[in-house]
Amino acid sequence: MCGIIGYIGEQTAADIILSGLQKLEYRGYDSAGVAIASDGKIERRRCEGKLVKLANLLRDQPLCGTTGIGHTRWATHGRPTEFNAHPHIDCTGALSVVHNGIIENYLKLKQDLIAGGHEFRSQTDTEALAHLIEEEMKIDNDVEKALSRALKKVDGAYAIGVIHKDSPDILLAARKSSPLILGIGDGENFIASDVPAILPYTRSIIYLEDEEIAIISRDKAVVKNLDGETIEKKIEHIEWNPVLAEKGGFPHFMLKEIFEQPQVIRNTIGGRTDEESAKIYLEELGLSVEEAQKLSAIYIVACGTAYYAGMVGKYMLEKLARVHVDVDLASEFRYRAPMVDANTLVIVISQSGETADTLAALREAKSLGAKVIGIVNVKGSSIAREVDGALYIHAGPEIGVASTKAYVAMLIALLLLSLQFGRMRGLVSVPEARRLIHLLKELPRNIETVLSEAADMNWIADRFCECSDFLYLGRGINFPTAMEGSLKLKEISYIHAEAYAAGEMKHGPIALIDRRMPVVAIATKSDTYDKMLSNVQEVIAREGMVIALATTGDEQIKEYTQNVIYVPETEEILSPIINVVPLQLLAYKIAINRGSDVDQPRNLAKSVTVE
Ligand code: AGP
Repeated sequence: MCGIIGYIGEQTAADIILSGLQKLEYRGYDSAGVAIASDGKIERRRCEGKLVKLANLLRDQPLCGTTGIGHTRWATHGRPTEFNAHPHIDCTGALSVVHNGIIENYLKLKQDLIAGGHEFRSQTDTEALAHLIEEEMKIDNDVEKALSRALKKVDGAYAIGVIHKDSPDILLAARKSSPLILGIGDGENFIASDVPAILPYTRSIIYLEDEEIAIISRDKAVVKNLDGETIEKKIEHIEWNPVLAEKGGFPHFMLKEIFEQPQVIRNTIGGRTDEESAKIYLEELGLSVEEAQKLSAIYIVACGTAYYAGMVGKYMLEKLARVHVDVDLASEFRYRAPMVDANTLVIVISQSGETADTLAALREAKSLGAKVIGIVNVKGSSIAREVDGALYIHAGPEIGVASTKAYVAMLIALLLLSLQFGRMRGLVSVPEARRLIHLLKELPRNIETVLSEAADMNWIADRFCECSDFLYLGRGINFPTAMEGSLKLKEISYIHAEAYAAGEMKHGPIALIDRRMPVVAIATKSDTYDKMLSNVQEVIAREGMVIALATTGDEQIKEYTQNVIYVPETEEILSPIINVVPLQLLAYKIAINRGSDVDQPRNLAKSVTVE
């Protein structure tokens, strides 16, 4: 997954592009580059590595000109090197392209183009697009029509920006399955993979849809389909505060986003509940009472952290709505020939709304006749626009690659959905709904308590940060919490961490226990607390080290371990929302101790828009 940006206007394009790329670096950061169309030529600056290297190069070798494109890369084809860095050019350097996505038929295209005399300089799929446009321009020398013809020959996903040396007054863009927005300014216009890149300049946005092409000048943006027919597009206004997308004084986006969670919960709940009437308002989903009552099964489909949120959602929906729920990894669901039909509700969960596997699973489910709703963060994202109903989690831009606030917001959304289904199916009484809504609104304060004691965990992180393996144990609705906690540690500290349902210990994992491997046990108040305590004892009896998450006031746990992290008491069905916060902080603190790049961990990208 990569980040692209383009600019056309009165300002120095390279400055705008570099600034925008810095806001897109979370999408990929193994190489970067800029291309400018000016004075009848295309000039480029590209380099391997982090964006700061490109900034230094542009300082030493500045680029003038007011029309340009830029790219920050997460390599899919070809190693992260300068010659593979975007922007790419055609044989003569007359045009340049930046691209986010994968051109699945690029090898065939490349073979045909080489047979036609084109010379390639890189290993990337993107370069094939530059030469394809060049070839198409031989027909009528019209770069817009050539681009449209070229894209009709492309299979796969793309969000692209194109400039041509002979057309410095236009910037071209197009998308299919990869996100791309137009920013509409005053005498200047932009393209970008995501909103934060252009928010400092404009709040007026146009979302490109699949197989649409944009022809952009300083004063207007025309959108067409690949047949050249103009399409009227709505200009949307973005409320996001630019500061929100910055670090807000925290050392890392991840820590900022962990501390944003109390407010995020308030935002996700928003005006969706009325405690007095015990009503839940999720009209955006377009689900009727009849549909809720006749539901025979629900499939929850997602990837990574969103998948673990789905696992929690299973417990919530089955407890409150008494409907069978299957939770599946999107990368498995889409190839499984799933048992889905018109009576199945499929819920896809995605922070970015652009995860390729989840998008493909959504399309598979729709092809099988299922109603598909999405629990999504990014408005206007591909998933948000393709589901039958989108439940936005309102977590704001999540820049840290390791997801934190979006996960908590997903859990809130799933609880609201479970409550609404439970009410619609006559299984949750008004008093019970009132009680849960009240407890839900208590959560921000509970999490503020946890955050206020974050420093108390430093000694645990200091003591265990050198360990090479961790085991996380949870039961019931907190088994997914253990999974998510272990993923956070893996992702940002690069420590091998795995999670098990605690009851599974005796079926094998207990062989792992020794003095070198800390065991994080989620032992907060629950129906299975005593069972969890037994698991803790099993670990201690084998000289294992336990770090226990416990409910404030629990003194019994201290008979077995002194490494206790306390969290405020709440209803078990809400406990994953609180319990995950100390696990996020633990992973963050350990990763900082180990010197990891917390916001941009190695090998990862914020949104995996490739398979
Ligand atoms: C979470 O910390 C990871 N960055 C990753 O597992 C992520 O949750 C997954 O790629 C799904 O992303 P999505 O929610 O944007 O679809």
